[in-house]
Amino acid sequence: MTDVISKKLESKIDHKLNSKRKRRHLEDGFKKGKVVNEVLDKSTVMTLYKMITDHVIAYVNGSVSAGKESVLFWGVDDDDVDVALKIYLVSTSNFKKREPYLTGDPRFSHLKKGTKNMIYLWARKEYRNLLQCYDAGIPVPKPLHVTNNVLAMEFVGNKGTPENSLLTSQVDENDYDQAILIIKDLYQKANLVHGDFSEYNIFKTENGLMVFDLGSGVDLRHPNSQKFLKRDINNITRFFKKRGILCADPDKIFEEIVN
Ligand SMILES: Nc1ncnc2c1ncn2[C@@H]1O[C@H](COP(=O)(O)OP(=O)(O)OP(=O)(O)O)[C@@H](O)[C@H]1O
Ligand SMILES: [Mg+2]
Repeated sequence: MTDVISKKLESKIDHKLNSKRKRRHLEDGFKKGKVVNEVLDKSTVMTLYKMITDHVIAYVNGSVSAGKESVLFWGVDDDDVDVALKIYLVSTSNFKKREPYLTGDPRFSHLKKGTKNMIYLWARKEYRNLLQCYDAGIPVPKPLHVTNNVLAMEFVGNKGTPENSLLTSQVDENDYDQAILIIKDLYQKANLVHGDFSEYNIFKTENGLMVFDLGSGVDLRHPNSQKFLKRDINNITRFFKKRGILCADPDKIFEEIVN
């Protein structure tokens, strides 16, 4: 695309974001689209614009959290419902770390080379994992849409503030039981192993635990799925033990789940 066209589109996006902001009197921290443009590259801004014209969201309301390789934005849809936008950053992406969770998963056997393609694939993978969980009745944020490196899902939290994670919550035996049940259901009902199951990637909501951040999730046919499962069980057991909860033997849980 020529620079002129992309400049035009960008100013259109700025205009759109700002007019929405003014119209709705949002205190969103968008100064003439600056926040968006400082964090996100041009093609991501374009993708967000496409999501606006596709009516996935009506506007972007602000940023929620900035990680090394992904950022979370707070979007709002045409019905004023909050939407979480997980944006994988193309610029800082460390693909070496992710590769072991892609290669070997038969659902993604046709890998196109190139960083951008890999990031887009990663976003689709998280979307697909969420969908498999959602369809199996496992508590996850409802997946809504994925375009390029932007994944849209149910916003879990209130007015742009995410729900507390297990890490920042009081926990009890019941939470431990729920966490183990989630790992078991992931395996037995959704045919998945999370791969990064930890106190950081679980919300504690009024209605119980909810797992998220499923980009690393692998199909059971992945050659390392059992190794990842063991690690997930060990990690969460370590967390609950540290919090003084009586936990079952992780090896026993592993056997129970796979047999
Ligand atoms: N659906 C959601 N609704 C509300 N908040 C969310 C949602 N998904 C993620 N978040 C928030 O964004 C943060 C980062 O999300 P996530 O864990 O999926 O990404 P990550 O790749 O681990 O990022 P990081 O590099 O920051 O660890 C979470 O800790 C959570 O607070
Ligand atoms: Mg995380």
